[in-house]
Amino acid sequence: MIFIGWRRLIRLCSRRIFSTRLKQKDGSSCSLWKCYHQKTSGSLLDPEMRLFLEKNTEVISSGNLTPEIRLRLLTPRCRFWHDKAALWPYGDPYWAIYWPGGQGLARYLLDNPEVVREKRVLDLGSGCGATAIAAMMSGASHVVANDIDPVAGAAMLLNCELNNLNPFRVLTENLIGTEVDNWDLIILGDMFYSEALADSLHQWLKNHIQTHRTKVLIGDPGRPYFVCHKIQKQLLKVSEYDLTKSTQQENNGSTSTVVWHYQP
Ligand SMILES: C[S@@+](CC[C@H](N)C(=O)[O-])C[C@H]1O[C@@H](n2cnc3c(N)ncnc32)[C@H](O)[C@@H]1O
Repeated sequence: MIFIGWRRLIRLCSRRIFSTRLKQKDGSSCSLWKCYHQKTSGSLLDPEMRLFLEKNTEVISSGNLTPEIRLRLLTPRCRFWHDKAALWPYGDPYWAIYWPGGQGLARYLLDNPEVVREKRVLDLGSGCGATAIAAMMSGASHVVANDIDPVAGAAMLLNCELNNLNPFRVLTENLIGTEVDNWDLIILGDMFYSEALADSLHQWLKNHIQTHRTKVLIGDPGRPYFVCHKIQKQLLKVSEYDLTKSTQQENNGSTSTVVWHYQP
């Protein structure tokens, strides 16, 4: 059992203590998921889950790099920000934080819509869905958000609604290492947070680029497993953004975030 508040958990996350394991309250697989593959029916979101998320998150549109996107996130005004993390009934809610890597990437897509316009886009490790939302807002023809946490999928549907968008397709399978698909663009915000993940992503993304000439954009604030990874030799810096004060405080003082183009 973990007896730490979310505030501390968020700090720990930033220090690479992430868990990719999903914790189900009753050990069963999540039945919520079946409805998330619908393209246009956000109303199919499980009512209990909707209620839970609406009660335990706050709608935010400031304090990050994309004030034009409204998001339901965990904030100091939410009960679970202060409560013991063990009381949270689902897997660790990494989706409930808008990470610096995703913020920079979303800002870049909103400011440079030509990068996504009419493109088929995969947002890998989508979390709250902000980067997928930015891709939609910038005119992508097809957006799929992928996150192994089913609750992230529910949160993304709510966040689409908040921004008056038809929900994009959400997948919860672990796609990393699976057969490559034909995407024009793959975007990843803050996904290089463990050595194993960094290694598997590196190879899998390379396969996409070599097979389909997929463009890959990575948002990262300088996480150790990214900075020290051999992928560094194959990156082109596209843009850099100063983080807001509140994002800096939540991320151990990281001051900026960078968008990279991966070019093996
Ligand atoms: C640090 S968060 C980043 C979220 C979002 N991209 C952002 O920048 O705000 C990492 C997210 O990746 C998800 N994740 C972890 N491993 C994954 C995998 N193998 N495939 C898809 N998503 C994964 C987690 O559930 C979490 O929501």
